Order: sequence, then structure tokens, then C-alpha cells
Amino acid sequence: MRFMVIHGPNLNMLKSRPQSIYGQRSLEEINNEIRTWCMKNNIHVDIVQSNCEGEIIDYLHKFQSYNGIVINPGAYTHYSYAIGDAVELVNIPVVEVHLSDIYSREDFRRKSVIASHCYRQISGFGFHGYILALQAIIHKIEEVDS
Ligand code: DQA
Repeated sequence: MRFMVIHGPNLNMLKSRPQSIYGQRSLEEINNEIRTWCMKNNIHVDIVQSNCEGEIIDYLHKFQSYNGIVINPGAYTHYSYAIGDAVELVNIPVVEVHLSDIYSREDFRRKSVIASHCYRQISGFGFHGYILALQAIIHKIEEVDS
């Protein structure tokens, strides 16, 4: 199976962001956790990060090469209809991930304009959320296949 993990804006700066909210790991450390898990489970993973809305959309447009996509759209979650539209056209499972629990933070973070186009959303499990998202997609694909 082939997966793409997309990290959105400011996630490349995790070490400089509040650790009480986003955890202690840098993005590279999170990516290493993801890669290690994928290697153990015989999964090919491409991991990308962008601070630009259009670039994230371009990554989503590459969906045909993958079985599933995990995306943390960062703050775009709350207002990017363009990323929402791109997720809508993707015909493989997409799971939206947030390191923090967006429902127990500021009001503006409670709304995702992307989640309704996704298979599921996972929020508040720190970096484990990425692994949970991969497992959820694999489960969904295997369920459909059996
Ligand atoms: C985030 C939550 C967003 O509200 C925020 O803008 C981020 C990170 C998270 O992973 O918890 O940049 O997506």
C-alpha cells in the first residue's frame, strides 16, 4: 500500500510552537515515527510539508498514486474552502489529523471546513494521531476488500 502524509503550515516549526499544545517532538521526529511504523507494516509512505495552500492542493491532486492520504492542514483547516474542494475530488480515503484537540481550544479552531470531505478526523492524540489515521485507512480498505 502507498500513502501520502501532508503536513500543512507551521508544522515545520513544531519545536518553536507551544509544546504543551503540540507535544515535544519536532516534525522530523514525528516523520521518523511515521516512517518506522510504515516500514514495520510494509507500507510505502511519502511525507511532505508545505506552508502554501496551492502547494497542498497540488499534493492532493497526486492522489491517483496512493491508497490513502493523511493530512494535517494546520490553520487552513478552519478556512480553506480550496483545500476542502481538493479533498472532495480525491476518491481515496483521506483522514484529517490534528496534534492538539481542536475542540478544547479557541472557538475558531472548533470548525473544520475540510473534515466533511474526509473519511474521518482524528484530533488530540499528538503524533499518535498520524499512526491512528494510517491504521483507520488500512482498516477501511481491508474491510471493503473482504
Ligand atoms: C493543528 C491545529 C490548528 O488549529 C493549528 O492552526 C495548527 C495545528 C494541530 O495539529 O493541532 O497549526 O492542525
